[in-house]
Amino acid sequence: MDLFEYEAKALFAAHGVPVGLGEIADTAEQAEAIAARLGGVTVVKAQVKVGGRGKAGGVKVARTPQEARAAAQAILGMDIKGHIVHRVLVDPGARIAQEYYVSFLLDRANRTFLCMASFEGGMDIEELAVERPEALARVAIDALVGVDLAQAAAILEAASFPADVAVKAAPVLVSLWATFVAADASLVEVNPLVLTEDGAIVALDGKVTLDENADFRQPGNAAYQDLAAANPLESAAKAKGLNYVKLDGSVGIIGNGAGLVMSTLDVVAYAGEEFGGVTAANFLDIGGGASAEVMANGLEIVLADEQVRSVFVNVFGGITTCDAVAGGIISAFALLADRGEAVSKPLVVRLDGNNAQLGRQMLADAALPGVEQVDTMDAAARRAAQLAAAESGNPSTEA
Ligand SMILES: Nc1ncnc2c1ncn2[C@@H]1O[C@H](COP(=O)(O)OP(=O)(O)OP(=O)(O)O)[C@@H](O)[C@H]1O
Ligand SMILES: [Mg+2]
Repeated sequence: MDLFEYEAKALFAAHGVPVGLGEIADTAEQAEAIAARLGGVTVVKAQVKVGGRGKAGGVKVARTPQEARAAAQAILGMDIKGHIVHRVLVDPGARIAQEYYVSFLLDRANRTFLCMASFEGGMDIEELAVERPEALARVAIDALVGVDLAQAAAILEAASFPADVAVKAAPVLVSLWATFVAADASLVEVNPLVLTEDGAIVALDGKVTLDENADFRQPGNAAYQDLAAANPLESAAKAKGLNYVKLDGSVGIIGNGAGLVMSTLDVVAYAGEEFGGVTAANFLDIGGGASAEVMANGLEIVLADEQVRSVFVNVFGGITTCDAVAGGIISAFALLADRGEAVSKPLVVRLDGNNAQLGRQMLADAALPGVEQVDTMDAAARRAAQLAAAESGNPSTEA
């Protein structure tokens, strides 16, 4: 889960990383009041969980409280790469002498943690990594040793920080690592970390990604749930305890087991090439025990997605047998009809594994409207993609 900049910086402050003492505003009037309280130059910053706010006009300098009000007026409601700005952070303006970059992250490929640091901040870090990779130091961090002052000094030396700056920045790196560990983060990034004209090191921006697997020991994480910004279907699925991720395609996917569902996404995308690039509309793993209620909830979520043109139910019977799943689908149709949400989109079902014959027979006997059975995963994926393309009104796909 990603945090907003103001949440990230509050976390930094709690662990000793120096940040500006700004405040959050929902309205232009609040922004003006905060700027008046802070005094002097302020910076009004869009709070959205997407990079490149500055370039999009989401970061504005204000010399007076009136200017802060106008800046907030302009930024609130702005659409930054599909993220609507609901709040702004009003921060004290820093007099920047130099901008640097520093981050700690999980390095999955190398099974370790990594620090990335650069003496050349201000630039897009992705751009820097490509154009001048030598200017971006990458130092592996041993999880058991962590980052002490000596390790921080080594990182800063690798990143070509001059000694006089490094001596001030090293304790900040130690605190940033402490934040990373204490919060169970998979990323903490400061871009820019700045040296001010009066010689202080300050984190002017903050990006934090928390590892949700650690939620059980991070009770504070619940407060970060950003339901307004989350996809409404994903929120609804979460409320029903379903493992659902919204995607961009048109074939709704329901499967049992995360691995099977992931390969289903691939198989649909592959089959969909034939029909002009049809892809999956979602990831939905209904898990091992596909009860009628879970199946009904899953179908309800998937069918509520307006982009869905067809649904592919891909089940491999194991401990939960295919006849149990077939029973689940049949009851789900009845349940949804009761809820006034009768299934109106074509459904392709592939049942295989334990008790496949029995399950297939049950579905055939039930003769549910719009339900077709296809016995192999590849052929079922192709049929679901074909149906999705046809439902989208693409005549060239009536193969
Ligand atoms: N409090 C501040 N005082 C002075 N200048 C600031 C302040 N905050 C940001 N800036 C300037 O604005 C630039 C962009 O700010 P920031 O890094 O927060 O946004 P961004 O980089 O556009 O957003 P993101 O990191 O999400 O892509 C900074 O590099 C810095 O030069
Ligand atoms: Mg930034």
